[in-house]
Amino acid sequence: MTTKKLYIKSYGCQMNFYDAQRMTDILKPLGYAVIENPEGADLVILNTCHIREKAEEKVYSDLGRIRAHKDDKMIVAVAGCVGQAEGGEIMRRAPYVDIVLGPQTYHRLPEMIARAHRSQENKQGKAQGPGRGVLDVDFPAESKFDFLPQEHSTVEATAFVAIQEGCDKFCTFCVVPYTRGAEYSRPVTAIIDECKRLVEKGAKEITLLGQNVNAYHGDGPDGNTWGLGRLMEALACLPGLLRLRYTTSHPRDMDEELMVAHRDIPQVMPFLHLPIQSGSDRILEAMNRKHTAAHYLKLIEKMRAFRPDMAFSSDFIVGFPGETEQDFQATLALIEAVGYAQAYSFKYSPRPGTPGALMNDQVPEDIMAERLGRLQDLLNAQQLAFNEKSIGTTQSVLFDRVGKQEGQLLGKTPHFQSTYITAPAELLGRCVDITITKAFANSVTGTPLVIPAQAGTQV
Ligand code: SAH
Ligand code: SF4
Ligand code: F3S
Repeated sequence: MTTKKLYIKSYGCQMNFYDAQRMTDILKPLGYAVIENPEGADLVILNTCHIREKAEEKVYSDLGRIRAHKDDKMIVAVAGCVGQAEGGEIMRRAPYVDIVLGPQTYHRLPEMIARAHRSQENKQGKAQGPGRGVLDVDFPAESKFDFLPQEHSTVEATAFVAIQEGCDKFCTFCVVPYTRGAEYSRPVTAIIDECKRLVEKGAKEITLLGQNVNAYHGDGPDGNTWGLGRLMEALACLPGLLRLRYTTSHPRDMDEELMVAHRDIPQVMPFLHLPIQSGSDRILEAMNRKHTAAHYLKLIEKMRAFRPDMAFSSDFIVGFPGETEQDFQATLALIEAVGYAQAYSFKYSPRPGTPGALMNDQVPEDIMAERLGRLQDLLNAQQLAFNEKSIGTTQSVLFDRVGKQEGQLLGKTPHFQSTYITAPAELLGRCVDITITKAFANSVTGTPLVIPAQAGTQV
């Protein structure tokens, strides 16, 4: 079989990166091997994100660049959430795109590619015309997970596994329920099998993924429905699996079983990404989040009671329609009350088809920018303070990547702090005790306490 070249690029959330990996796994038996640049590719896949306007614009500008490299044999596919939301529009705006597909149909890629090739052959004989592209943005009755290959072609020390997908919550700013479809939980056995195979191939940490991962309710092997806490209890029995994480959680789905998992299961890390978006009850209601700031603060308090060293991160949106300075102050107050280890924050971006886009009182751009600046100053200060507090402590760091500088290794502490050290490459893929010596806003560094015996090298 001749090798064909695949260039695949992902935008957006970790689920998209997981999906891209699974697409390469599907295409491997057809002879596709990944290359790092689009030039000379037989197949280009852009796995896109629709969450904010900027993410979408990026896709169109990258498509323009790829067009410059397109020759007769190159197939260009747009996958992911922009594909789902704007399929027909992409075909009109960029007629050189051969395939558009959504997040729930990528198991059908091989047949889409075959159809695109047939259509290309036809075109070569006749005059070119629009409307020949392959468009598959169904929400099929079958689950794509049942059709994905068992093997992951590349496995690193930190691996991702999708356990839940889609969302039924319909926050008024968000496109995800429209692009990913209804909530779906994979059966427990399928997840355990996938995790087992990853661990056997060298994964030490698994992050369980879902748009609402803690709404997980999968069929268990005992005939009961299992929640996320129970699932992690079972996964913790896999020999060689050192760490478990999960993302992204919703405050309405934090049940007690999940909270105590952070206390009772050593593999479950003391870190939780729990987005709240705003600290104002009025805005939370307009966002359809269906909980209050007090409910969120209570959750944080409860989790800290179960696990005192628990660290938190969140997402914030500034400038949701109708947000006043007073609402914004409530967000700052909530941040002060929690004390975050990390956070992501965004200016509100009105998305087509969502109720938020039609609301009155859209907040002007300059006010959003000014609020985002103040919010990020506070969050950055908290993040630096959190990192500085770890100076002098010893943390177990799982090194999973090499850094840009010679001899540099990158990894994460249990609290998800990015850590870099200069050390022998043998430490890659291992958990090493590091004494933290310096802290920055986005990372920490330190020295290994003891070099594990197998490494056989002094630092
Ligand atoms: N399922 C997750 C978040 C998914 S989207 C949850 O419920 O929290 C990731 C983040 O993008 C959101 O938490 C939100 O902060 C941000 N986001 C989503 N839609 C947005 C929009 N229209 N404008 C700005 N930020 C948005
Ligand atoms: Fe979007 Fe809200 Fe669903 Fe999260 S819970 S994916 S923010 S609609
Ligand atoms: Fe983006 Fe879709 Fe993920 S819109 S954030 S790629 S679920």
